[in-house]
Amino acid sequence: MAYKTLITEIEDGVELIRLNRPDALNALNSELLGELADALRKADADPKVRAVVITGSEKAFAAGADIREMSEKSFAEAKSENFFAGEADVIAATRKPVIAAVAGYALGGGCELAMMCDIILAADTARFGQPEINLGIIPGLGGTQRLARAVGKAKAMEMILTGRFMEAEEAERTGLVSRVVPAKKLLEEALTAAGKIAEKSAISVLAAKEAVNRVYESPLAEGIRFERASFHGLFATEDQKEGMEAFLEKREPQFRDK
Ligand code: HXC
Repeated sequence: MAYKTLITEIEDGVELIRLNRPDALNALNSELLGELADALRKADADPKVRAVVITGSEKAFAAGADIREMSEKSFAEAKSENFFAGEADVIAATRKPVIAAVAGYALGGGCELAMMCDIILAADTARFGQPEINLGIIPGLGGTQRLARAVGKAKAMEMILTGRFMEAEEAERTGLVSRVVPAKKLLEEALTAAGKIAEKSAISVLAAKEAVNRVYESPLAEGIRFERASFHGLFATEDQKEGMEAFLEKREPQFRDK
């Protein structure tokens, strides 16, 4: 499907979604977030897609929610239309793995979008920030919660209260991103990582993502119980038999997602 604010392509089990509002540094307006939610919902339903990469441009992953669109909004409108919550909930609920490949600015809603993804790969040009405080608002797509969980309270508070940006190196050191790579190699690295995921059994990939995400929703004992039930359940799959047989027979597994 052709989108106005996204460019999408699917190759070898990986869907690449490029945010495409170059005139506004990929600022997230309702059209873009609506299209992104639609694309991810379809990716979840499409057996040809086994992993997703979301990226922006060299200059900006996304420079935040669209300030022009937000500027006239009243409290009543924001509240009654549940401003951006529906789209954010769909994006964050994607069941297949999503990698954010971030170059340049990932600010405000852009940083929050990256944090909704499962893995953030950063170019050495990446800059993360939650500068909403400069606009008289606070993060509204999960930033106060996910940034504090990712980098701890002290850094999250500093970034959210002062609007300070974090460079790629600091983002890696503090655990916000999984790796920093040269900007020129960002997409290749992200597609390679997504390609590796695409080779696995889709059942165990779904289970692994669900289990790790449990960390953010439950106490440790509950999370361990959840993991154990899921782990035991995977012994009912053909892919578990195939994976282990292939190892013992010293060959590559042929997973069938069953
Ligand atoms: C709308 C934006 C934008 C944004 C950039 N643009 N960011 N438009 N919303 N968030 C537009 C500019 O207006 C400009 O358009 C064009 O993109 C290029 O931007 P410049 O500012 O000229 O580029 P530069 O000088 O290189 O500065 C880059 C920048 C700066 C540092 C990233 O653009 C910036 O500070 N942007 C805003 C960042 C921000 O505050 N984000 C948080 C938004 S609030 P023209 O037409 O002039 O060329 C948010 C809330 C999330 O995200 C929660 C929602 C529920």
